[in-house]
Amino acid sequence: MNRMRHDGPVIVGAGLAGLSAALEAARAGAQVLVVTPEPLLSACSSAWAQGGMAAALSAVDSAELHAADTEAAGAGLVEGEAARALTGAGRSTVEWLAGLGAPFDRDADGGFLVSLEAAHSTPRVARVGGDGAGRAILSAVVAAVRAEKRIVVWDDARLKALAQDADGRVVGAVVARGAAERLVEITATAVVLATGGAGGLFAATTTPSALKGEGMALAGLAGAEILDPEFVQFHPTAIDLPGSGDLDPAPLATEALRGEGARLIDGEGRFLLGAADDADLKPRDVVARAVHAARMDGRGAYLDARTAIGQAFPHEFPAVFAACMRAGLDPRVSPIPVMAACHYHMGGIAADADGRTTVAGLYAVGECAATGVHGANRLASNSLLEAAAFGRRAGAAAARETGGGRPLPARIAPDLPQAAMNALRAAMTAHAGVVRDAPGLSELIGVIDRLDAQHGAASTLLAARLIAQAALDRRESRGGHFRADYPHTAPQAEHTRVKLTRPAAMEAAE
Ligand code: SIN
Repeated sequence: MNRMRHDGPVIVGAGLAGLSAALEAARAGAQVLVVTPEPLLSACSSAWAQGGMAAALSAVDSAELHAADTEAAGAGLVEGEAARALTGAGRSTVEWLAGLGAPFDRDADGGFLVSLEAAHSTPRVARVGGDGAGRAILSAVVAAVRAEKRIVVWDDARLKALAQDADGRVVGAVVARGAAERLVEITATAVVLATGGAGGLFAATTTPSALKGEGMALAGLAGAEILDPEFVQFHPTAIDLPGSGDLDPAPLATEALRGEGARLIDGEGRFLLGAADDADLKPRDVVARAVHAARMDGRGAYLDARTAIGQAFPHEFPAVFAACMRAGLDPRVSPIPVMAACHYHMGGIAADADGRTTVAGLYAVGECAATGVHGANRLASNSLLEAAAFGRRAGAAAARETGGGRPLPARIAPDLPQAAMNALRAAMTAHAGVVRDAPGLSELIGVIDRLDAQHGAASTLLAARLIAQAALDRRESRGGHFRADYPHTAPQAEHTRVKLTRPAAMEAAE
Protein backbone atom coordinates (compact mmCIF):
# COMPACT_ATOMS: atom_id res chain seq x y z
CA MET A 1 0.00 0.00 0.00
CA ASN A 2 1.22 3.51 -0.84
CA ARG A 3 1.20 6.08 1.94
CA MET A 4 0.95 9.85 1.76
CA ARG A 5 0.44 12.73 4.13
CA HIS A 6 -2.06 15.46 3.24
CA ASP A 7 -1.76 18.59 5.35
CA GLY A 8 -5.45 19.47 5.54
CA PRO A 9 -8.83 17.77 5.54
CA VAL A 10 -9.73 14.99 3.12
CA ILE A 11 -13.31 15.07 1.88
CA VAL A 12 -14.82 11.80 0.69
CA GLY A 13 -17.55 12.43 -1.87
CA ALA A 14 -18.20 15.14 -4.43
CA GLY A 15 -21.92 15.86 -4.29
CA LEU A 16 -23.29 19.19 -3.11
CA ALA A 17 -22.44 18.47 0.55
CA GLY A 18 -18.83 17.42 -0.09
CA LEU A 19 -18.04 20.23 -2.50
CA SER A 20 -19.70 22.89 -0.31
CA ALA A 21 -17.49 21.64 2.53
CA ALA A 22 -14.44 21.75 0.26
CA LEU A 23 -15.09 25.34 -0.83
CA GLU A 24 -15.58 26.57 2.71
CA ALA A 25 -12.54 24.71 4.07
CA ALA A 26 -10.45 26.23 1.28
CA ARG A 27 -11.88 29.66 2.03
CA ALA A 28 -10.74 29.17 5.62
CA GLY A 29 -7.21 28.64 4.29
CA ALA A 30 -6.99 24.83 4.34
CA GLN A 31 -5.48 22.67 1.62
CA VAL A 32 -8.30 20.29 0.67
CA LEU A 33 -8.19 16.88 -0.96
CA VAL A 34 -11.50 15.62 -2.38
CA VAL A 35 -11.67 11.91 -3.21
CA THR A 36 -14.51 10.48 -5.30
CA PRO A 37 -14.83 7.36 -7.47
CA GLU A 38 -16.33 9.12 -10.52
CA PRO A 39 -15.72 12.35 -12.45
CA LEU A 40 -17.36 15.43 -10.92
CA LEU A 41 -21.09 15.74 -11.62
CA SER A 42 -21.61 11.99 -12.01
CA ALA A 43 -22.83 9.32 -9.60
CA CYS A 44 -24.06 11.69 -6.92
CA SER A 45 -27.68 12.21 -5.97
CA SER A 46 -27.44 16.02 -5.80
CA ALA A 47 -26.94 16.24 -9.56
CA TRP A 48 -30.21 14.40 -10.11
CA ALA A 49 -32.43 16.40 -7.78
CA GLN A 50 -35.36 17.75 -9.78
CA GLY A 51 -37.51 19.72 -7.36
CA GLY A 52 -35.00 22.22 -6.02
CA MET A 53 -33.91 23.76 -2.72
CA ALA A 54 -36.41 24.48 0.04
CA ALA A 55 -35.95 27.92 1.62
CA ALA A 56 -38.21 30.62 3.02
CA LEU A 57 -37.91 33.11 0.18
CA SER A 58 -41.40 34.48 -0.43
CA ALA A 59 -43.04 37.38 1.36
CA VAL A 60 -45.61 35.09 3.03
CA ASP A 61 -42.99 32.62 4.29
CA SER A 62 -40.54 32.56 7.21
CA ALA A 63 -37.72 30.38 8.54
CA GLU A 64 -39.94 29.58 11.55
CA LEU A 65 -42.78 28.32 9.34
CA HIS A 66 -40.29 26.26 7.32
CA ALA A 67 -38.90 24.77 10.56
CA ALA A 68 -42.43 23.96 11.75
CA ASP A 69 -43.19 22.11 8.49
CA THR A 70 -39.85 20.28 8.77
CA GLU A 71 -40.71 19.15 12.30
CA ALA A 72 -44.24 18.10 11.34
CA ALA A 73 -42.95 15.98 8.45
CA GLY A 74 -40.34 14.31 10.66
CA ALA A 75 -42.99 12.57 12.80
CA GLY A 76 -41.68 13.43 16.26
CA LEU A 77 -37.98 12.80 15.65
CA VAL A 78 -36.74 16.13 14.25
CA GLU A 79 -34.41 18.01 16.59
CA GLY A 80 -35.91 21.52 16.78
CA GLU A 81 -32.60 23.32 17.16
CA ALA A 82 -31.11 21.58 14.13
CA ALA A 83 -34.24 22.31 12.06
CA ARG A 84 -34.09 26.00 12.98
CA ALA A 85 -30.36 26.14 12.17
CA LEU A 86 -31.18 24.66 8.76
CA THR A 87 -34.17 26.78 7.82
CA GLY A 88 -32.54 29.93 9.22
CA ALA A 89 -29.76 29.42 6.67
CA GLY A 90 -32.22 29.02 3.76
CA ARG A 91 -32.05 32.43 2.11
CA SER A 92 -28.30 32.95 2.66
CA THR A 93 -27.57 29.50 1.19
CA VAL A 94 -29.67 30.12 -1.94
CA GLU A 95 -27.99 33.52 -2.32
CA TRP A 96 -24.52 31.98 -1.87
CA LEU A 97 -25.26 29.48 -4.62
CA ALA A 98 -26.77 32.15 -6.85
CA GLY A 99 -23.56 34.14 -6.26
CA LEU A 100 -21.56 31.15 -7.51
CA GLY A 101 -23.66 31.22 -10.67
CA ALA A 102 -26.55 28.81 -9.96
CA PRO A 103 -29.23 30.07 -12.35
CA PHE A 104 -32.32 29.89 -10.10
CA ASP A 105 -35.62 30.63 -11.86
CA ARG A 106 -36.65 34.26 -11.21
CA ASP A 107 -39.83 36.27 -11.49
CA ALA A 108 -40.12 39.54 -13.44
CA ASP A 109 -38.79 41.51 -10.44
CA GLY A 110 -35.74 39.26 -10.03
CA GLY A 111 -37.15 37.41 -7.00
CA PHE A 112 -36.74 33.65 -6.67
CA LEU A 113 -39.59 31.60 -8.19
CA VAL A 114 -40.80 28.95 -5.75
CA SER A 115 -42.85 25.77 -6.26
CA LEU A 116 -45.13 23.86 -3.92
CA GLU A 117 -44.22 20.34 -2.83
CA ALA A 118 -45.92 17.94 -0.44
CA ALA A 119 -46.22 18.83 3.26
CA HIS A 120 -44.96 22.42 2.74
CA SER A 121 -47.58 24.89 3.97
CA THR A 122 -46.61 27.39 1.25
CA PRO A 123 -44.64 27.31 -2.03
CA ARG A 124 -40.95 27.44 -1.05
CA VAL A 125 -38.89 25.27 -3.38
CA ALA A 126 -36.43 27.39 -5.36
CA ARG A 127 -36.05 25.72 -8.72
CA VAL A 128 -33.80 25.89 -11.75
CA GLY A 129 -34.92 25.35 -15.34
CA GLY A 130 -38.17 23.74 -14.18
CA ASP A 131 -36.90 20.33 -13.03
CA GLY A 132 -33.13 20.73 -13.47
CA ALA A 133 -32.18 22.16 -10.07
CA GLY A 134 -29.66 19.60 -8.87
CA ARG A 135 -27.46 19.54 -11.94
CA ALA A 136 -27.52 23.31 -12.43
CA ILE A 137 -26.68 24.07 -8.80
CA LEU A 138 -23.95 21.45 -8.66
CA SER A 139 -22.46 22.69 -11.96
CA ALA A 140 -21.99 26.15 -10.43
CA VAL A 141 -20.34 24.63 -7.36
CA VAL A 142 -18.10 22.40 -9.49
CA ALA A 143 -16.95 25.45 -11.48
CA ALA A 144 -16.03 27.20 -8.22
CA VAL A 145 -14.16 24.10 -7.01
CA ARG A 146 -12.21 23.88 -10.27
CA ALA A 147 -11.21 27.53 -9.93
CA GLU A 148 -9.99 27.09 -6.32
CA LYS A 149 -6.26 26.41 -6.16
CA ARG A 150 -6.42 25.03 -2.62
CA ILE A 151 -8.65 22.13 -3.69
CA VAL A 152 -7.26 18.99 -5.35
CA VAL A 153 -9.72 16.38 -6.65
CA TRP A 154 -8.94 12.69 -7.16
CA ASP A 155 -11.84 11.43 -9.24
CA ASP A 156 -10.72 7.79 -9.38
CA ALA A 157 -10.60 6.98 -5.68
CA ARG A 158 -13.04 4.75 -3.80
CA LEU A 159 -13.14 4.78 0.00
CA LYS A 160 -12.05 1.44 1.48
CA ALA A 161 -11.40 2.18 5.16
CA LEU A 162 -10.91 4.90 7.74
CA ALA A 163 -7.52 5.14 9.46
CA GLN A 164 -7.42 5.68 13.22
CA ASP A 165 -4.66 6.41 15.70
CA ALA A 166 -4.13 4.64 19.01
CA ASP A 167 -6.69 6.96 20.69
CA GLY A 168 -9.37 6.08 18.14
CA ARG A 169 -9.20 9.47 16.44
CA VAL A 170 -9.80 9.32 12.68
CA VAL A 171 -6.53 10.46 11.10
CA GLY A 172 -7.07 9.54 7.47
CA ALA A 173 -8.59 7.24 4.90
CA VAL A 174 -7.56 4.34 2.70
CA VAL A 175 -8.75 4.63 -0.90
CA ALA A 176 -8.49 2.32 -3.91
CA ARG A 177 -7.38 4.25 -7.00
CA GLY A 178 -8.02 3.55 -10.67
CA ALA A 179 -8.95 0.34 -12.45
CA ALA A 180 -6.11 -1.46 -10.70
CA GLU A 181 -7.61 -0.49 -7.31
CA ARG A 182 -4.19 0.54 -5.99
CA LEU A 183 -4.52 1.13 -2.24
CA VAL A 184 -3.37 4.51 -0.90
CA GLU A 185 -3.39 5.42 2.78
CA ILE A 186 -3.87 9.18 3.16
CA THR A 187 -3.08 10.68 6.54
CA ALA A 188 -5.00 13.97 6.98
CA THR A 189 -5.95 16.51 9.65
CA ALA A 190 -9.60 15.43 9.46
CA VAL A 191 -11.90 13.30 7.31
CA VAL A 192 -15.26 14.61 6.09
CA LEU A 193 -17.58 11.86 4.87
CA ALA A 194 -19.99 13.06 2.18
CA THR A 195 -20.61 9.61 0.76
CA GLY A 196 -24.35 9.92 0.03
CA GLY A 197 -27.15 7.54 0.86
CA ALA A 198 -27.97 3.87 0.61
CA GLY A 199 -30.31 3.66 -2.41
CA GLY A 200 -28.01 1.14 -4.12
CA LEU A 201 -28.90 -1.37 -1.39
CA PHE A 202 -32.41 -1.51 -2.85
CA ALA A 203 -33.47 -3.03 -6.19
CA ALA A 204 -35.68 -0.02 -6.94
CA THR A 205 -33.99 3.31 -6.31
CA THR A 206 -34.08 6.82 -7.71
CA THR A 207 -30.51 7.55 -6.56
CA PRO A 208 -27.22 6.40 -8.10
CA SER A 209 -26.97 2.67 -7.48
CA ALA A 210 -23.27 3.00 -6.57
CA LEU A 211 -24.31 4.64 -3.27
CA LYS A 212 -24.69 1.71 -0.90
CA GLY A 213 -24.35 3.06 2.62
CA GLU A 214 -20.66 2.19 2.85
CA GLY A 215 -19.72 5.53 4.46
CA MET A 216 -22.21 4.81 7.25
CA ALA A 217 -20.84 1.28 7.69
CA LEU A 218 -17.20 2.44 7.86
CA ALA A 219 -18.05 5.26 10.27
CA GLY A 220 -19.88 2.71 12.43
CA LEU A 221 -16.84 0.44 12.41
CA ALA A 222 -14.70 3.40 13.50
CA GLY A 223 -16.94 3.71 16.57
CA ALA A 224 -19.24 6.52 15.39
CA GLU A 225 -22.82 6.48 16.61
CA ILE A 226 -25.35 5.55 13.93
CA LEU A 227 -28.72 7.26 14.31
CA ASP A 228 -32.10 5.91 13.15
CA PRO A 229 -30.83 3.75 10.26
CA GLU A 230 -34.29 2.23 9.71
CA PHE A 231 -35.71 5.49 8.36
CA VAL A 232 -35.62 5.30 4.58
CA GLN A 233 -37.81 7.46 2.37
CA PHE A 234 -39.53 5.91 -0.64
CA HIS A 235 -40.55 8.28 -3.42
CA PRO A 236 -44.01 7.47 -4.79
CA THR A 237 -43.39 8.49 -8.38
CA ALA A 238 -40.32 6.78 -9.78
CA ILE A 239 -40.99 6.25 -13.48
CA ASP A 240 -41.63 2.58 -14.25
CA LEU A 241 -41.07 2.42 -17.99
CA PRO A 242 -38.76 -0.16 -19.52
CA GLY A 243 -36.47 1.79 -21.82
CA SER A 244 -36.80 5.12 -20.00
CA GLY A 245 -33.03 5.31 -19.89
CA ASP A 246 -31.29 3.88 -16.87
CA LEU A 247 -33.90 1.77 -15.12
CA ASP A 248 -31.31 1.24 -12.42
CA PRO A 249 -31.71 3.79 -10.99
CA ALA A 250 -35.26 4.61 -11.99
CA PRO A 251 -35.86 8.12 -13.37
CA LEU A 252 -37.93 10.35 -11.10
CA ALA A 253 -41.17 12.19 -11.87
CA THR A 254 -40.74 15.11 -9.50
CA GLU A 255 -43.31 15.86 -6.83
CA ALA A 256 -43.50 19.37 -8.29
CA LEU A 257 -45.70 17.82 -11.00
CA ARG A 258 -48.28 17.06 -8.32
CA GLY A 259 -47.66 20.56 -6.93
CA GLU A 260 -48.82 21.80 -10.36
CA GLY A 261 -51.93 19.62 -10.25
CA ALA A 262 -50.90 16.27 -11.81
CA ARG A 263 -52.96 13.44 -10.29
CA LEU A 264 -52.29 9.86 -9.22
CA ILE A 265 -54.73 7.40 -10.74
CA ASP A 266 -55.07 3.64 -11.10
CA GLY A 267 -55.36 1.70 -14.36
CA GLU A 268 -59.11 2.41 -14.46
CA GLY A 269 -58.59 6.16 -14.07
CA ARG A 270 -59.76 6.29 -10.42
CA PHE A 271 -57.96 8.66 -8.03
CA LEU A 272 -55.55 6.72 -5.81
CA LEU A 273 -55.84 9.06 -2.84
CA GLY A 274 -59.28 10.59 -3.31
CA ALA A 275 -60.67 13.44 -5.40
CA ALA A 276 -59.72 16.41 -3.17
CA ASP A 277 -57.44 18.85 -4.99
CA ASP A 278 -54.60 18.42 -2.48
CA ALA A 279 -55.07 14.66 -1.89
CA ASP A 280 -51.91 13.74 -3.81
CA LEU A 281 -49.78 16.14 -1.77
CA LYS A 282 -50.10 14.16 1.44
CA PRO A 283 -46.80 13.23 3.15
CA ARG A 284 -44.55 11.17 0.92
CA ASP A 285 -44.85 7.96 2.97
CA VAL A 286 -48.67 8.04 2.73
CA VAL A 287 -48.56 8.54 -1.04
CA ALA A 288 -45.84 5.89 -1.47
CA ARG A 289 -47.97 3.32 0.37
CA ALA A 290 -51.00 4.13 -1.81
CA VAL A 291 -48.92 3.64 -4.97
CA HIS A 292 -47.40 0.43 -3.58
CA ALA A 293 -50.82 -0.97 -2.61
CA ALA A 294 -52.32 -0.20 -6.03
CA ARG A 295 -49.49 -2.03 -7.75
CA MET A 296 -49.59 -4.98 -5.33
CA ASP A 297 -53.30 -5.57 -5.91
CA GLY A 298 -52.99 -5.29 -9.68
CA ARG A 299 -54.73 -1.90 -10.20
CA GLY A 300 -51.51 -0.21 -11.32
CA ALA A 301 -50.42 3.33 -10.48
CA TYR A 302 -50.05 6.24 -12.93
CA LEU A 303 -49.25 9.92 -12.73
CA ASP A 304 -51.65 11.80 -14.96
CA ALA A 305 -50.21 15.16 -15.98
CA ARG A 306 -52.20 15.49 -19.22
CA THR A 307 -54.48 18.29 -18.00
CA ALA A 308 -52.30 19.99 -15.40
CA ILE A 309 -49.11 20.19 -17.48
CA GLY A 310 -50.09 19.05 -20.97
CA GLN A 311 -48.35 20.94 -23.76
CA ALA A 312 -46.14 22.81 -21.26
CA PHE A 313 -44.31 19.55 -20.40
CA PRO A 314 -41.21 19.98 -22.60
CA HIS A 315 -40.26 23.38 -21.22
CA GLU A 316 -41.69 23.15 -17.67
CA PHE A 317 -40.34 19.67 -16.84
CA PRO A 318 -37.72 18.88 -19.48
CA ALA A 319 -35.93 16.11 -17.52
CA VAL A 320 -39.11 14.14 -16.81
CA PHE A 321 -40.34 14.73 -20.36
CA ALA A 322 -37.07 13.42 -21.82
CA ALA A 323 -37.10 10.29 -19.60
CA CYS A 324 -40.64 9.45 -20.72
CA MET A 325 -40.00 10.15 -24.39
CA ARG A 326 -36.86 7.97 -24.34
CA ALA A 327 -39.11 5.09 -23.32
CA GLY A 328 -41.65 5.89 -26.01
CA LEU A 329 -44.32 7.45 -23.76
CA ASP A 330 -45.55 10.98 -24.39
CA PRO A 331 -46.68 12.34 -20.98
CA ARG A 332 -48.69 15.08 -22.72
CA VAL A 333 -51.12 12.42 -23.94
CA SER A 334 -50.57 9.36 -21.68
CA PRO A 335 -50.41 8.88 -17.90
CA ILE A 336 -46.95 7.88 -16.64
CA PRO A 337 -46.64 4.44 -14.96
CA VAL A 338 -45.04 4.97 -11.54
CA MET A 339 -43.72 2.91 -8.64
CA ALA A 340 -42.39 3.64 -5.16
CA ALA A 341 -38.58 3.49 -5.01
CA CYS A 342 -35.92 4.17 -2.39
CA HIS A 343 -35.14 7.88 -2.55
CA TYR A 344 -33.43 9.12 0.61
CA HIS A 345 -31.87 7.78 3.80
CA MET A 346 -32.91 9.89 6.78
CA GLY A 347 -30.82 7.80 9.18
CA GLY A 348 -27.05 7.62 9.11
CA ILE A 349 -23.95 8.82 10.94
CA ALA A 350 -24.99 10.90 13.96
CA ALA A 351 -23.60 14.40 13.42
CA ASP A 352 -24.26 17.94 14.59
CA ALA A 353 -24.94 20.93 12.33
CA ASP A 354 -21.16 21.37 11.91
CA GLY A 355 -20.87 17.75 10.76
CA ARG A 356 -19.09 16.62 13.95
CA THR A 357 -19.62 12.92 14.64
CA THR A 358 -19.03 11.15 17.96
CA VAL A 359 -15.49 10.22 16.82
CA ALA A 360 -12.73 12.85 16.95
CA GLY A 361 -11.42 13.85 13.53
CA LEU A 362 -14.46 12.44 11.69
CA TYR A 363 -17.16 14.63 10.12
CA ALA A 364 -20.25 13.61 8.16
CA VAL A 365 -22.40 15.77 5.87
CA GLY A 366 -25.27 15.34 3.44
CA GLU A 367 -27.26 12.15 3.09
CA CYS A 368 -24.79 9.91 4.93
CA ALA A 369 -25.21 12.08 8.03
CA ALA A 370 -28.14 12.12 10.44
CA THR A 371 -28.15 15.64 11.87
CA GLY A 372 -31.65 15.54 13.34
CA VAL A 373 -33.24 17.72 10.64
CA HIS A 374 -35.14 14.95 8.86
CA GLY A 375 -36.34 12.78 11.74
CA ALA A 376 -38.44 9.88 10.47
CA ASN A 377 -39.43 11.57 7.21
CA ARG A 378 -37.61 14.26 5.25
CA LEU A 379 -39.55 17.27 4.04
CA ALA A 380 -39.25 17.51 0.25
CA SER A 381 -36.29 19.53 -1.06
CA ASN A 382 -34.75 20.03 2.39
CA SER A 383 -31.85 17.76 1.40
CA LEU A 384 -30.16 20.13 -1.06
CA LEU A 385 -30.45 22.89 1.54
CA GLU A 386 -28.93 20.67 4.22
CA ALA A 387 -26.14 19.55 1.87
CA ALA A 388 -25.03 23.10 1.09
CA ALA A 389 -25.77 24.81 4.42
CA PHE A 390 -24.37 22.16 6.77
CA GLY A 391 -21.70 21.17 4.22
CA ARG A 392 -20.29 24.69 4.41
CA ARG A 393 -20.35 24.63 8.21
CA ALA A 394 -18.55 21.27 8.29
CA GLY A 395 -15.89 22.51 5.89
CA ALA A 396 -15.19 25.52 8.11
CA ALA A 397 -15.03 23.32 11.23
CA ALA A 398 -12.84 20.64 9.60
CA ALA A 399 -10.41 23.33 8.40
CA ARG A 400 -9.61 24.07 12.05
CA GLU A 401 -8.58 20.48 12.88
CA THR A 402 -4.88 19.83 13.31
CA GLY A 403 -4.73 16.02 13.12
CA GLY A 404 -3.72 13.24 15.47
CA GLY A 405 -1.21 10.45 15.97
CA ARG A 406 0.21 7.81 13.64
CA PRO A 407 -2.39 5.69 11.87
CA LEU A 408 -2.72 2.08 12.99
CA PRO A 409 -2.94 -0.43 10.12
CA ALA A 410 -6.41 -0.04 8.62
CA ARG A 411 -8.53 -3.09 7.92
CA ILE A 412 -10.09 -3.49 4.52
CA ALA A 413 -13.48 -5.14 4.07
CA PRO A 414 -14.06 -7.40 1.05
CA ASP A 415 -16.32 -6.27 -1.80
CA LEU A 416 -19.54 -8.13 -2.47
CA PRO A 417 -19.63 -9.93 -5.87
CA GLN A 418 -22.31 -8.61 -8.26
CA ALA A 419 -24.59 -11.67 -8.01
CA ALA A 420 -24.58 -11.41 -4.22
CA MET A 421 -25.25 -7.66 -4.45
CA ASN A 422 -28.25 -8.34 -6.70
CA ALA A 423 -29.62 -10.86 -4.20
CA LEU A 424 -29.17 -8.35 -1.37
CA ARG A 425 -30.91 -5.58 -3.30
CA ALA A 426 -33.90 -7.78 -4.15
CA ALA A 427 -34.24 -8.86 -0.51
CA MET A 428 -33.98 -5.26 0.76
CA THR A 429 -36.74 -4.02 -1.56
CA ALA A 430 -38.95 -7.03 -0.74
CA HIS A 431 -38.53 -6.89 3.03
CA ALA A 432 -37.21 -3.47 4.10
CA GLY A 433 -39.19 -1.51 1.52
CA VAL A 434 -42.40 0.52 1.70
CA VAL A 435 -44.19 -2.08 3.87
CA ARG A 436 -42.25 -4.15 6.41
CA ASP A 437 -43.07 -6.86 8.93
CA ALA A 438 -41.21 -9.14 11.33
CA PRO A 439 -41.22 -12.32 9.19
CA GLY A 440 -39.90 -10.41 6.15
CA LEU A 441 -37.24 -8.53 8.10
CA SER A 442 -36.10 -11.76 9.80
CA GLU A 443 -35.84 -13.41 6.38
CA LEU A 444 -33.80 -10.43 5.16
CA ILE A 445 -31.41 -10.72 8.10
CA GLY A 446 -31.06 -14.42 7.23
CA VAL A 447 -30.07 -13.45 3.67
CA ILE A 448 -27.49 -10.99 5.04
CA ASP A 449 -26.11 -13.69 7.39
CA ARG A 450 -25.75 -16.14 4.51
CA LEU A 451 -24.03 -13.60 2.23
CA ASP A 452 -21.76 -12.62 5.11
CA ALA A 453 -20.77 -16.26 5.67
CA GLN A 454 -20.12 -16.77 1.93
CA HIS A 455 -18.33 -13.55 1.07
CA GLY A 456 -17.03 -12.02 4.31
CA ALA A 457 -18.11 -8.88 6.13
CA ALA A 458 -18.58 -6.43 3.23
CA SER A 459 -19.43 -2.83 4.16
CA THR A 460 -22.58 -3.06 2.04
CA LEU A 461 -23.76 -6.02 4.12
CA LEU A 462 -23.11 -4.10 7.30
CA ALA A 463 -25.06 -1.10 5.98
CA ALA A 464 -27.97 -3.37 5.04
CA ARG A 465 -27.82 -5.08 8.44
CA LEU A 466 -27.97 -1.72 10.25
CA ILE A 467 -31.17 -0.82 8.36
CA ALA A 468 -32.80 -4.26 8.64
CA GLN A 469 -32.06 -4.83 12.33
CA ALA A 470 -33.25 -1.36 13.37
CA ALA A 471 -36.39 -1.83 11.25
CA LEU A 472 -37.05 -5.15 12.99
CA ASP A 473 -36.45 -3.63 16.42
CA ARG A 474 -38.75 -0.64 15.86
CA ARG A 475 -42.13 -2.14 16.67
CA GLU A 476 -44.26 0.78 15.51
CA SER A 477 -44.91 2.74 12.32
CA ARG A 478 -43.50 6.24 12.03
CA GLY A 479 -42.63 8.41 9.04
CA GLY A 480 -40.93 6.39 6.33
CA HIS A 481 -40.93 3.20 8.45
CA PHE A 482 -44.21 1.30 8.12
CA ARG A 483 -44.72 -2.03 9.88
CA ALA A 484 -47.79 -3.96 8.68
CA ASP A 485 -47.66 -5.89 11.98
CA TYR A 486 -47.33 -2.70 14.10
CA PRO A 487 -49.30 -0.08 12.16
CA HIS A 488 -49.75 2.26 15.15
CA THR A 489 -47.37 5.09 16.12
CA ALA A 490 -46.02 4.86 19.67
CA PRO A 491 -47.05 7.82 21.87
CA GLN A 492 -43.42 8.58 22.69
CA ALA A 493 -40.98 9.10 19.79
CA GLU A 494 -37.61 7.45 20.47
CA HIS A 495 -34.43 7.50 18.42
CA THR A 496 -32.49 4.35 17.54
CA ARG A 497 -28.81 4.75 18.48
CA VAL A 498 -26.34 2.05 17.40
CA LYS A 499 -22.73 1.57 18.48
CA LEU A 500 -20.88 -1.24 16.72
CA THR A 501 -18.08 -3.48 17.77
CA ARG A 502 -15.67 -4.35 14.95
CA PRO A 503 -16.54 -7.76 13.45
CA ALA A 504 -13.77 -10.31 13.76
CA ALA A 505 -14.28 -11.52 10.18
CA MET A 506 -12.65 -8.49 8.53
CA GLU A 507 -9.37 -9.08 6.78
CA ALA A 508 -6.25 -7.14 7.59
CA ALA A 509 -5.02 -4.98 4.72
CA GLU A 510 -1.44 -6.00 5.02
C1 SIN B 1 -38.87 15.58 -6.04
O1 SIN B 1 -38.55 16.45 -6.83
O2 SIN B 1 -39.95 15.00 -6.07
C2 SIN B 1 -37.90 15.15 -5.01
C3 SIN B 1 -37.53 16.27 -4.15
C4 SIN B 1 -36.89 15.73 -2.92
O3 SIN B 1 -36.80 14.53 -2.74
O4 SIN B 1 -36.52 16.53 -2.07
